[in-house]
Amino acid sequence: MTQAVRTFGILGAGKLGTVLARLAVAAGYEVLVAGPGEPDRIRLVVEVLAPGAVATTADDVADRADVVVLAIPLSGLPSVPAGLLAGKTVVDATNYWWETDGERPELADPAVATSTLVAQALPRATVVKAFNHMGYHDLDEGPRPPGASDRRAIAVAGDDAAAVRLASMIIDTLGFDPVPAGALDDTVNLQPHAEAFGANVDAATLRLMIERFPTTARGRLVAAGRASAQVGLR
Ligand SMILES: NC(=O)c1ccc[n+]([C@@H]2O[C@H](COP(=O)([O-])OP(=O)(O)OC[C@H]3O[C@@H](n4cnc5c(N)ncnc54)[C@H](OP(=O)(O)O)[C@@H]3O)[C@@H](O)[C@H]2O)c1
Repeated sequence: MTQAVRTFGILGAGKLGTVLARLAVAAGYEVLVAGPGEPDRIRLVVEVLAPGAVATTADDVADRADVVVLAIPLSGLPSVPAGLLAGKTVVDATNYWWETDGERPELADPAVATSTLVAQALPRATVVKAFNHMGYHDLDEGPRPPGASDRRAIAVAGDDAAAVRLASMIIDTLGFDPVPAGALDDTVNLQPHAEAFGANVDAATLRLMIERFPTTARGRLVAAGRASAQVGLR
């Protein structure tokens, strides 16, 4: 059974966070949004871009929300209130983006699924990956009712079936078709440089992109990197 979500929390009040907040308000959720500092810093932005959502602190989001989306730069992860997220489903929408996060070879390594690092940093939460591959403009323009012929798809991946179901339900209520993309360690197939990164396509097309990832140049690079890491471990 999928648990009910009433309160939808978003960490990050930037481009992605405010679009998700707007969609979540439209879907009927109570929406809490936080930036890294005091709520006053983001209150106007939230009021204007996501009317109905409430600006608050990151601690309050982590404490009160039933599900929390990370819409922050990946390099902001250490400032996320990990303890307060214990027992929560956390949807990781982050990507390693060198222009924002700086040159970080450990994050840029094609073999590394950055969501696994997010999960390690939030050991008492259940992390799934979703909402990372579609640009915020596309997300904003994309919501459609279930069954619409032009409905777009969002990939969702994770190691916990119940959390993946929960995230899939949220994706659906926000107006997109959820497409399973494997485990957290598989999310190299959704990261920058993968074909699915940037995808604003229907479910069948996204499924194909995910399936053929291992045969792409990026997929082969990931496989080679992982194979040589295995050899190094022996
Ligand atoms: N832009 C897109 O189309 C898109 C699409 C899918 C996924 N993503 C991913 O989503 C993430 C956010 O991207 P974005 O484009 O929305 O970036 P953005 O516009 O720069 O917004 C990021 C926001 O996160 C805030 N922040 C930083 N650390 C925080 C923390 N610990 N707690 C709460 N808020 C924090 C920042 O606040 P300050 O400015 O005050 O530091 C900023 O408002 C990135 O990982 C990106 O790769 C982006």
